[in-house]
Amino acid sequence: MARESVQGSLPTATLGETLAVINDVFVPNIAKGVIIRRPRVVGMAERMALDERAVRRVQKLNKKYGKGPLLLKVPGKSMALILDPDDANRVLDESPEPFATAEQAKRSALAHFEPDMALVSHGRKRAERRRFNEEVLQSECPVHGLSERFVPVVEQEAEALLARVRSNQGELGWDMFIDTWDRIVRRVVLGDSASDDQELTETLAKLRAAGNWGFLHPQRTRLRKRFLETLQGYIDRAEPGSLAAEAARVPTNSDTKPSNQMPQWLFAFEPAGMATFSALALLSAHADQAERARAEIARHEGDQRPDMSFLRACLLESLRLWPTTPLVLRQSTERTHWQNGEMPADTSILILAPYFHRDDRHLDDANRFDPDLWLKPEGAGEWPLIPFSGGPGICPGRHLVLLVTSAMLASLMKRHEFRLDPPDRLLASQPMPALLSNYHLRFKVSRN
Ligand code: HEM
Repeated sequence: MARESVQGSLPTATLGETLAVINDVFVPNIAKGVIIRRPRVVGMAERMALDERAVRRVQKLNKKYGKGPLLLKVPGKSMALILDPDDANRVLDESPEPFATAEQAKRSALAHFEPDMALVSHGRKRAERRRFNEEVLQSECPVHGLSERFVPVVEQEAEALLARVRSNQGELGWDMFIDTWDRIVRRVVLGDSASDDQELTETLAKLRAAGNWGFLHPQRTRLRKRFLETLQGYIDRAEPGSLAAEAARVPTNSDTKPSNQMPQWLFAFEPAGMATFSALALLSAHADQAERARAEIARHEGDQRPDMSFLRACLLESLRLWPTTPLVLRQSTERTHWQNGEMPADTSILILAPYFHRDDRHLDDANRFDPDLWLKPEGAGEWPLIPFSGGPGICPGRHLVLLVTSAMLASLMKRHEFRLDPPDRLLASQPMPALLSNYHLRFKVSRN
């Protein structure tokens, strides 16, 4: 496509500015854990408002350099920071050519447990793996065809959790929640026979912990092989009503590598649990919105194919305020032309989601809980709100995520009241914090 562009390279940040970006954007995100979070660091990052510092840093560069993209002065590596909404949309819309999803740092992180996954593949192989993911996850369907089996799974597990909460003096913390959430995820992805396969979740956690270090950590090849063989076993078993059965059913060829696609389904469901817990906190702190949620839940009582737009909007808000993939990465496959210069091939391109999600220069209520932002017919317009990325590389699991997470919120809130402990953990009268550690949320639960 012909683009208006100027000759010469894109502007480059000074060494001092590059170091500031490394300090304010990269270090906190890497320290929090890119592939599996480190709860203590997340708690500290919340207390120190590190995510706000990252947004302010990028805003400052935007003020100085205008639209960007802006090259960073990193020795031996071409890296660009996206500063403009149109450029963010362009990069996402023009994936995977010339902006490959298989960016170098992402490849080395995900290689620890899913080296042949779609996101880190390119060309023909990526196309086939993406197609496979889209078919299994029913990427374009708001309500997955297996909803009538997934929703009861969520309801059963939520009931069991609430029974445990009652015998725990009505207290609910992250550790109890995640045990239940992991069971739901295993039942949805692998089938009921995996309900208690905690060992599989723990093996994946070990491989993800290695993934946090990228190429700096040696590959645990034997552990990965055993893990992928276990997943293949679940695909072979094809338990009816599971994603594993779908993986066994949809057509594949020698490029597909189904068992390599599956770790993403397990691993990416964890942030969905984080978003659910944070959404519960948002609703606990905003009585008026909780009323709307309850009204919707009542309307959908008994519905096994629920499309609860308000609850989904609350979850999207939770992900807008606290995106679980704050850095969306691409890698240019060729020299590209921009309004302010040329970007070399093999440049790692960084889109910092919170920079757009919390842009108080554009969004009136950037720091407020505003589910209506997702309910307007025109959405956010052209503004990149990208909790699930965007363009051809958009998360193919997004509708499934919103189905399962909204069903969980509904099952929990149907007959129970959740109050934050302490009550001032999150206050509607205050701007929403730059980060909310799901690990440090506690609720007092009572019947309503
Ligand atoms: C809150 C939960 C989730 C969020 C916020 C999320 C977000 C994202 C994002 C931002 C990407 C793009 C990453 C990139 O470009 O580097 C992505 C990709 C992907 N997600 Fe999700 N995801 C979630 C859960 C899930 C679940 C539960 C599944 C499957 C069951 C899933 C399947 C995938 C797949 C297969 C890709 C790769 C797509 C491709 O290669 O084009 N995600 N997700």
